[in-house]
Amino acid sequence: MPEEEKHLDTLLTENRTFTPSEAFKARANVNDPNIYERAAADPEAYWAEEAKNITWFRPYNKILKWDPPHAEWFVGGKLNAAYNCVDRHREGSRKNKAALIWEGEPGDSQVLTYDMLGREVDKAAHMLSNLGVKKGDRVAVYLPMIPELPISLLACAKLGAIHTVVFGGFSSKSLQERIVDADAKLVITADAGWRGGKPLPLKANADEAVAGTSVEHVLVVDRVGEQAKAEKNPDRDVSWHELIAKQPSTPFPAEEMDTEDVLYLLYTSGTTGKPKGVTHTTGGYMVGVNNSMRTVFDLKDEDVFFCTADIGWVTGHTYIVYGPLSAGATTVMYEGAPNYPDRDRFWDIVEKYGVTTFYTAPTSIRTFMKWGPEYVEKHNLDSLRLLGTVGEPINPEAWMWFHKYIGKEKAPIVDTWWQTETGCAMIAPLPGITATKPGSATKPVPGISVDVVDHDGHSVEPGNGGSLVITKPWPSMLRTIWGDDERFRNTYFGDFPGIYLPGDGAHKDEDNYVWILGRMDDVINVSGHRIGTAEVESALVSHSSVAESAVIGRSHEVKGQAITAFVTLKEGVTSGDEIIKELKQVVVNQIGAIARPEELVLTNELPKTRSAKIMRRLLRDIAEGRDIGNTTTLADPSVVESLQAAFKR
Ligand code: WT7
Repeated sequence: MPEEEKHLDTLLTENRTFTPSEAFKARANVNDPNIYERAAADPEAYWAEEAKNITWFRPYNKILKWDPPHAEWFVGGKLNAAYNCVDRHREGSRKNKAALIWEGEPGDSQVLTYDMLGREVDKAAHMLSNLGVKKGDRVAVYLPMIPELPISLLACAKLGAIHTVVFGGFSSKSLQERIVDADAKLVITADAGWRGGKPLPLKANADEAVAGTSVEHVLVVDRVGEQAKAEKNPDRDVSWHELIAKQPSTPFPAEEMDTEDVLYLLYTSGTTGKPKGVTHTTGGYMVGVNNSMRTVFDLKDEDVFFCTADIGWVTGHTYIVYGPLSAGATTVMYEGAPNYPDRDRFWDIVEKYGVTTFYTAPTSIRTFMKWGPEYVEKHNLDSLRLLGTVGEPINPEAWMWFHKYIGKEKAPIVDTWWQTETGCAMIAPLPGITATKPGSATKPVPGISVDVVDHDGHSVEPGNGGSLVITKPWPSMLRTIWGDDERFRNTYFGDFPGIYLPGDGAHKDEDNYVWILGRMDDVINVSGHRIGTAEVESALVSHSSVAESAVIGRSHEVKGQAITAFVTLKEGVTSGDEIIKELKQVVVNQIGAIARPEELVLTNELPKTRSAKIMRRLLRDIAEGRDIGNTTTLADPSVVESLQAAFKR
């Protein structure tokens, strides 16, 4: 059975449905099921209504200008994202409400009220401005999960600079690629961050990354100190702490941004070796993420929202920073590892701060399952009222475990399907309305039009599968790929004009619920993070001993998918554990630890068709221990046996 079908089979064997409780329904922000029809009848009117929750400096004069594949939303409107996330709450009744609760790994913590956060953002904006950062400039942010990270983002937004966050787990080479592509002027980094009780160095990578680039300054936060062993370059480096202390305490005026001015770039893997700079603009993104908080996450003023993602990924941008803060909520961010000092760290945080909404990835849930419920049971989780998942399809077992042990069988679960490109959740239940089925993200949220189509772009009948598509533009959609509009057009709109193609396969069930099956392209989803097979392959072949490589994703019980690399060495190179270790390290150095292959199999030959195409499907079958069916299309069928033997070893 092909992988997708097998996967679907396990998902669909779970046929329970869970309806929202009367108590939840009664208090939900949205509990009138007509919202779906109302929004579908006139999506533009729906979004215009939603746009009222954002403060505009100047009103827009047209809701949508759609010139496929280019959309402009709220045309002519002026606003500022940081003003919407901080200042408007600070000026009002939320002035002294906790905006950001930060929990550091070693146990230090900080609570910033909206007023305090506002002051920090203003000082940081003054600082960036004094360093020469102007509206439209790009600032690369390579920081651990410390308060200076959201403060940097908001400071950029306040003065109109475009931030591009690079996840701290990426290598210096990956950081450099992004700095160069974005043509960043400034890099904000830290000496190191804490992870699992150890300093995770960042400054050394940043130093390597900026060499030979256009970067004028590196702004360094001292997070770890002595143990980080970071060196300072007096000509280029400036200290965040020294500089921020010298800034005026006057407010920094929020730049009036056009609705279509770029808010941020975020790089994501594609099918080629070069990551794509997903480009989000201001007005539509803010309307989308703000709406998502209220509808999907049922956010209320008293909620404490804990999203466990890193701000290095889009989930953190939207659901730690811009979403919760634009809605005036309290957002929790945690610096370190979930098992430090012990495996109950998340539950400890939930109890300590009275977290009401907990949003995490299926891979984390599977890890909690492995650790066992005793870590959960040590804590009082009564404050939790809503749970969410994101990043990959959730297997029903993990869903049920989450429901039972974390949600105590009463908190609804919102399984949210979306992507870096979509800006916020696209397919997800409304917790006060939608009956959930474990394993399905259910239905598109109001205002979003989704379908599953066949090769010709025709909608499939219920009970069938095909490609997931988004058939109408939506406010928080990416506007382009930075510097490569052609790639934007081809990647997302190349198949069916005006129809957005996410790259996922999906199944539509008898109730029109959507079941996401995973990527249809050469992208691997490792623990909810996208890694392009081409990126890993090009890292491997950059090594002088490698002749050829093929990289695939195999199913993995915790990570969802794991990276398996098949490598043929050049003649005369001695194979063995030594070279395997070295090659794995090449991938870590070139991309980052997240891309380290789980297995690296040395082989004399790769299975190819007679037209010399590598048969990836077959490699996946081998890695997952499945029977290999028909191999007559192979140029040399004997390759299979030797590969199977090599994989077992
Ligand atoms: C890809 C996007 C958006 C946040 C994190 C990942 C997969 C995401 C789900 C879900 C099934 C999901 C898709 C998608 N994905 N959420 N709830 N169910 N699959 O962002 O790195 O841009 O990856 O993650 O394959 O295309 P990303």
